[in-house]
Amino acid sequence: MSVKVGVVGGGQLARMMIAPAVELGVEITVLAEQPQMSAERAADEVGDYRDLDTVMAFARAVDVVTFDHEHVPQDVLRALVDAGVAVHPGPDALIFAQDKLRMRARLHELGVPQPEWAAVSSVDELQAFIDDHGGRAVVKTPRGGYDGKGVRVVENAGDADDWLAALPEGDSLLAEELVDFTRELAQQIARRPSGERVPYPVVETVQRGGVCAEVIAPAPRSGGRVSQVAAEIGATIAEGLGVTGMLAVELFETTDERLLVNELAMRPHNSGHWSQDGAVTGQFEQHLRAVLDLPLGDPSPRQPWAVMVNILGGPASDSLESRFPLALGAHPSAKVHTYGKAPRPGRKVGHVNAFGDDLDAVVYEARAAAEVFAD
Ligand SMILES: Nc1ncnc2c1ncn2[C@@H]1O[C@H](COP(=O)(O)OP(=O)(O)OP(=O)(O)O)[C@@H](O)[C@H]1O
Ligand SMILES: [Mg+2]
Repeated sequence: MSVKVGVVGGGQLARMMIAPAVELGVEITVLAEQPQMSAERAADEVGDYRDLDTVMAFARAVDVVTFDHEHVPQDVLRALVDAGVAVHPGPDALIFAQDKLRMRARLHELGVPQPEWAAVSSVDELQAFIDDHGGRAVVKTPRGGYDGKGVRVVENAGDADDWLAALPEGDSLLAEELVDFTRELAQQIARRPSGERVPYPVVETVQRGGVCAEVIAPAPRSGGRVSQVAAEIGATIAEGLGVTGMLAVELFETTDERLLVNELAMRPHNSGHWSQDGAVTGQFEQHLRAVLDLPLGDPSPRQPWAVMVNILGGPASDSLESRFPLALGAHPSAKVHTYGKAPRPGRKVGHVNAFGDDLDAVVYEARAAAEVFAD
């Protein structure tokens, strides 16, 4: 018997599923958006993930369909399910990672703590929300945002004029209170279709310019209450939304010690890259196990601390590979991962994982190794 996973989307997340798939003996194939993407090694097909015929033909040749991103349209996903294709996560769960307004409404129903929010579709509605929330708000486009694109802090409703003007009839933007957070955390949890769940330790994530820059696992000072509350929130969402595969819950820890949900991702996530080398079962292998409904692996950290530092941008004048001798030579205990992407300012082109007993030393090691790839 051989099992075959089909991944829609050819980015770095699909790329990083390839190694554990090979190790486990699972066939993997990727529907990439373009030739020569990150997951090229498994990209047997190039095609439009919005086109039903393309995705259906791809799905027919595999045992389960999963994703590198959340952009496959609902009608395509539903047609796959209707045709008997195993899709994980399924459309009924994925909608809440596709649409931040739907997510806010559903989390409210589930009683999950989150920032105050409202759907706004006019300058007046947005201004009223701003006035009610201390003169500031965060405005988000409900769909299609990533890496902080589609997120804006505003003090006047006019600052979101362009987005409001471009709204299709009947659509709204998401307005949120500007949360006074002390730090950002992320809780990952794997869930199988048959119901088994495995939580990872809660981690601290550091964003710069709306982009994840560093992750510390486990989150410092998270023993006891913080890790317990985060795990409960993760379990409530995974179960309540029927998520299959890896779920990431982005959280704010507030100055008054509450945890509020920022957003969800239903796939491997940047906040879990540390687990590739730092946990008994990394998130990419765990995602494959979960979508195949195989028993889940142990998520325990192998060392007291793991730190992940993203390589953002990369060298302008030469390739990432040209820096390998220096990075690998000077940092033999760090694990370097690159995504086969051309360097471009701000672009996520790789990351470094480091581990050990002493957090300061681990942070230093991961940053120093990543710095070798900076311009
Ligand atoms: N309500 C809020 N209050 C304060 N800061 C916020 C709020 N919402 C978002 N942010 C900040 O903006 C960042 C990006 O927001 P969000 O995660 O919603 O956007 P995204 O572009 O979908 O994310 P990603 O980078 O995870 O793809 C957050 O990590 C956080 O730093
Ligand atoms: Mg986010």
